[in-house]
Amino acid sequence: MQIKNICCIGAGYVGGPTMAVIALKCPHINVTVVDANPDKIKAWNGPLDKLPVYEPGLAEVVKEARGRNLFFSDDISGNIEKAEMIFMAVNTPTKTEGEGAGMAADLRYFEACAIDIAKFSKTDKIVIEKSTLPVRTAEKIKEILEENSKGIHFEILSNPEFLAEGTAIQDLFKSDRVLIGGDETQSGQKAVQALVDIYANWIPKEKILTTNVWSSELAKLASNAMLAQRISSINSLSVLCEKTGANIEELSTAIGMDHRIGPHFLKSSVGFGGSCFQKDILNLVYLCKFYGLEDVAEYWHQVVKINDYQKNRFAQKIIDFKLSEKKVLILGWAFKKDTNDTRESAAIYIANSLLKANINVSVYDPMVSEKQIRKDLELLNSNEKNYKLNIKVFENLNNALKENSIVAIVTEWDEFKRINYHLINPNIHIFDGRGIITKEITKYSIGLGND
Ligand code: UDX
Ligand code: UDX
Repeated sequence: MQIKNICCIGAGYVGGPTMAVIALKCPHINVTVVDANPDKIKAWNGPLDKLPVYEPGLAEVVKEARGRNLFFSDDISGNIEKAEMIFMAVNTPTKTEGEGAGMAADLRYFEACAIDIAKFSKTDKIVIEKSTLPVRTAEKIKEILEENSKGIHFEILSNPEFLAEGTAIQDLFKSDRVLIGGDETQSGQKAVQALVDIYANWIPKEKILTTNVWSSELAKLASNAMLAQRISSINSLSVLCEKTGANIEELSTAIGMDHRIGPHFLKSSVGFGGSCFQKDILNLVYLCKFYGLEDVAEYWHQVVKINDYQKNRFAQKIIDFKLSEKKVLILGWAFKKDTNDTRESAAIYIANSLLKANINVSVYDPMVSEKQIRKDLELLNSNEKNYKLNIKVFENLNNALKENSIVAIVTEWDEFKRINYHLINPNIHIFDGRGIITKEITKYSIGLGND
């Protein structure tokens, strides 16, 4: 099938960059990204230095393709109708109420999206799940589409995104693999081929893996769970290092030199953040429980529990540190460097613990706005009546360092590695969360970057 028009619903961290790269690499296809939030669309159509998503290389891609064959629009119905292929990239957060609250994925937006697709479609469509979803969601989407449509054929594919924020454009240019799950029926296989043909414009054929829908859906959850499990494993060992005098960085290097293990994702940290790892593991835990696999569920749940333990441990170290006038500067609010995304960032939980211990807290991040920082803390405390947020946000790093007695490095922004902290403030105490959580830190030291 020849695809001429693609529509993507959801102009977020996944939908925006992914569609920009598809448009860049496939100039013969019109790619339109729609979103329920008109302000976001306005921003995608606005100045390149103010796009809603910050990603190295993204502005250049948008510059080349926008207006040529890449469009951002708030006309959801018209663009659904026009497209032969529709990507669904709306967010699927963890449920906060009802059955599975705190674990299962909230499919509200996703299902609403499916209803829209059914409602506005007048011709057959290939519908692609881009968001991470529980296994067997495709089945549910198919039901919704069929119930709400008038005899139109929808073919559902799973094409999970493996991009990591901060390196999204490079990940999209040179993916380790592109995974496409589809039905084993003739029409299913035809749809799979249509999507393979799109990626084949820049991804070598041997890296495009086609599977059945359930394997594809589960592979995304499992990949994220395995990556997060490595981080929790190394973080759990960092505690043992502190007790025994071993060095966690030396341990990581020694372990990673075994080619069967490999060096990646073995950096000890204040705990992983981001919109995916915790959500996907909890999703996996919920799925295991649903099938009565309590032991398997508990195994994966431990990955999240160790992550919480690590965040608490870091905050507790600062709380327990004996100092007469404790003023803590948190360096970094994004969940990792080179992104403005703060979802599930360890910084939020660490700042919150410090504030709850009545410690004076301020923050500096090169990419995250004061508004976002306040919003994150207010959201975390939304159950608390009369919550008063007392935090200072600096725009100038030097001033921030001069005015505080402790600095906690939580995000591995490159600019934090180039500073001689003691030159700016000779009395400052450094708590480095990136790899050196194991040491009593009072001298200049900076942890490892992200993997
Ligand atoms: C995606 C995935 O969809 C999620 O499942 C995955 O685990 C992480 O990546 P992401 O792109 O990071 O989400 O989310 P976000 O940046 O919040 O973007 C989602 C967009 O969808 C938002 O711009 C939101 O306005 C839009 N949206 C949401 C709609 O257009 N319609 C809706 O009904 C709901
Ligand atoms: C992750 C997956 O890597 C990606 O394939 C998937 O599509 C989405 O989820 P992302 O969350 O954007 O990507 O970033 P990632 O680089 O995986 O980092 C996640 C968290 O783990 C960050 O907080 C990072 O600082 C932390 N991390 C990473 C460590 O603590 N130690 C490491 O060794 C590596």
